[in-house]
Amino acid sequence: MLAIAKAQPNIALIKYWGKRDPERNLPAVGSISVTLSELFTQMSVDLDATVAVDQLEVNGATNEALLPRVQLCLDRVLGSDRQRARVVSQSNFPIAAGLASSASAFSALVVAAASAGGQDRSTSELASLAGASSGSAARSLYGGFAELENYDDDVRVASICSASEWPLRVVVAITMAGPKATSSGEAMEISRKTSPFYSRWVDQQAEDLEVARAAVGARDFEMLAEVSEHNCLKMHSVMWASRPPIMYWNSATIECMQVIRELRSQGVAVFFTIDAGPQLKAVCLPEDENRVQTALAAVDGVSDIMLSGIGDGAALVQQ
Ligand code: DP6
Repeated sequence: MLAIAKAQPNIALIKYWGKRDPERNLPAVGSISVTLSELFTQMSVDLDATVAVDQLEVNGATNEALLPRVQLCLDRVLGSDRQRARVVSQSNFPIAAGLASSASAFSALVVAAASAGGQDRSTSELASLAGASSGSAARSLYGGFAELENYDDDVRVASICSASEWPLRVVVAITMAGPKATSSGEAMEISRKTSPFYSRWVDQQAEDLEVARAAVGARDFEMLAEVSEHNCLKMHSVMWASRPPIMYWNSATIECMQVIRELRSQGVAVFFTIDAGPQLKAVCLPEDENRVQTALAAVDGVSDIMLSGIGDGAALVQQ
């Protein structure tokens, strides 16, 4: 009854920010992301009738804080009358720091749990289950460029372009590796309830999705760059105008944004995006990766750089 799955985090270019149904964790808006290739979470789920309580180990240490969310996810996949589980999660990047660790963790968890429970679920069922635990996790079931759409009372995710069809690179500048103060889930609810820009953000999302989808379809880097940076800055403007304000950036994040804008003005094919954390993700063409890496590494406050291509969706590694 042991299964191990591996999943990669994804970086949203057109962002999910806000919930239309907080109880069921359904997003208010659709989103488009790229699944990474080099960062990953490996998740092992061991269902064991002899174990009295669920156990969770994250990166080598027992983790009681994350256990309730993991238990809820296991209940959704296997039913609340399931056997108790030993869950072991190992990631090769900092968790809870705005690097989409919940996306890789919950997508790997649903794949491993379903297999350990002897289930044969479709990728779309697994995506809905992962999304109920963390909205962005639904996208990590798919590789390449993934689009999440809202429909009826669920979500539907599909890959809109494979990694090999448009092999862009992602350069991640780590400006602070510690965990964030406010989780994205909590912060979204603050925005929904208090930001005067929130409804405008929701209203405009369909337009941004359409432009980004067309840009990916045409492999039009400049078009994707424009709409992605704008969408990212709109999301952070919604956060800044919330009460209390939600500010994930630090001075190095802003310096990195300026460096990317400067490179763009010199004709380098690169754009930035930032999630619920201070790390900056630069998306670029392969031939510009070295230049982007060197420029970001030179910024004061950048402690580490991670390089990645675009990868595949979550998959079983052992069952
Ligand atoms: C800024 O998926 O972490 O990264 O559903 O509450 O777990 P929950 O939120 P989560 O939010 C991700 C927010 C984001 C944008 C994105 O990934 O689309």
